[in-house]
Amino acid sequence: MFFRSIFTSAMILFSGSSVVHGANSPGCGKDLPRVQEPGGSYSTNITTKDGRERSYIIHIPSNYDKNEPVPVIFSFHGRTRTAKSQEKLSQFSNEEYNPNAIAVYPQGIKNQWQGDPSSQGIDDISFTLQMLDHFEDRYCIDRTRVYAAGKSNGGGLTNRLACDPTASKRFAAFAPVAGAYYQNVTEDNCRPNTVKIQCNPARTPIPMLAFHGTADETIPYTGGGRRGRCLPSVPHFVREWASRDDLGGKNETTTTNGGKVEVSRFGDHGEVVHYRIEGLGHAWPSTEPNSDNPDGTYVDATPIIMGFFDQWTL
Ligand SMILES: *[C@@H]1O[C@H](CO)[C@@H](O)[C@H](O)[C@H]1NC(C)=O
Ligand SMILES: *[C@@H]1O[C@H](CO)[C@@H](O)[C@H](O)[C@H]1NC(C)=O
Ligand SMILES: *[C@@H]1O[C@H](CO)[C@@H](O)[C@H](O)[C@H]1NC(C)=O
Repeated sequence: MFFRSIFTSAMILFSGSSVVHGANSPGCGKDLPRVQEPGGSYSTNITTKDGRERSYIIHIPSNYDKNEPVPVIFSFHGRTRTAKSQEKLSQFSNEEYNPNAIAVYPQGIKNQWQGDPSSQGIDDISFTLQMLDHFEDRYCIDRTRVYAAGKSNGGGLTNRLACDPTASKRFAAFAPVAGAYYQNVTEDNCRPNTVKIQCNPARTPIPMLAFHGTADETIPYTGGGRRGRCLPSVPHFVREWASRDDLGGKNETTTTNGGKVEVSRFGDHGEVVHYRIEGLGHAWPSTEPNSDNPDGTYVDATPIIMGFFDQWTL
């Protein structure tokens, strides 16, 4: 909610509208769970309130100190993928990109998330909030610096967290990549540039950074009907966030790579940012080849996401 380079942490703590009271989590001062060490990634299970056994991978930064609060970044895999593949794809455990934050890669039931047309009766928002409670009790976390990113169906869940009245107050910023923002509208009635997007965040502005390739054949940039539901066009999705965040209709546009990458920044501090990447398919942008894209593309999404997250605290 605040722009970190302007406001001091004292102002964040004493602000009446601050939604998280006290930055340091109850886990500060506690030893790491047994078997976990700084620098490692660990696959771990948790039993949720609905009695399900769920799992996630957690990466502890090498410089972790139980008395120093650190940010947490959740990274959600795409449908049919796994927590392990998402750790490799999104690179938040790569300390060249992310030296300081705990990174968490949750595992979806049947490798998918709430929000996909075939995921029924699964509450992944509640699962995410339970993981966050669990981490705040066990690790030393800066509760004003919790972030979410995800690919495709995982980008859809990232958006649902931003749109949720409770989760929107626990996460400081969001970064969906090639997000699948399915709306509960039939294909026949799908008007991708005007479809009403269900979204009820409990604070404003919600910082949102969205990447999407124009050659995405899975979740098309122009939206449309898919698997019985309606996908908004990506510009409509982005403009709706700018409108919800009360940033006005205008954006500051910059292009790089001979016009192939167009960046639209809405708001005085770039509260809503969109990267439109010409010719990129359904992929996590990376200049090096990755499991989504053997050719690489013009930009690396992960360091851009890190820079964006670094701007925002609750
Ligand atoms: C962890 O939970 C998963 C289900 O998400 C299950 O398949 C696996 O066996 C569990 N692992 C352990 C060590 O209990
Ligand atoms: C989707 O829309 C249908 C018809 O309007 C409704 O019955 C159903 O409850 C909705 N589902 C969700 C998840 O909102
Ligand atoms: C940002 O503004 C430019 C120039 O008006 C426009 O072409 C582009 O579509 C806008 N971006 C979004 C996401 O609306």
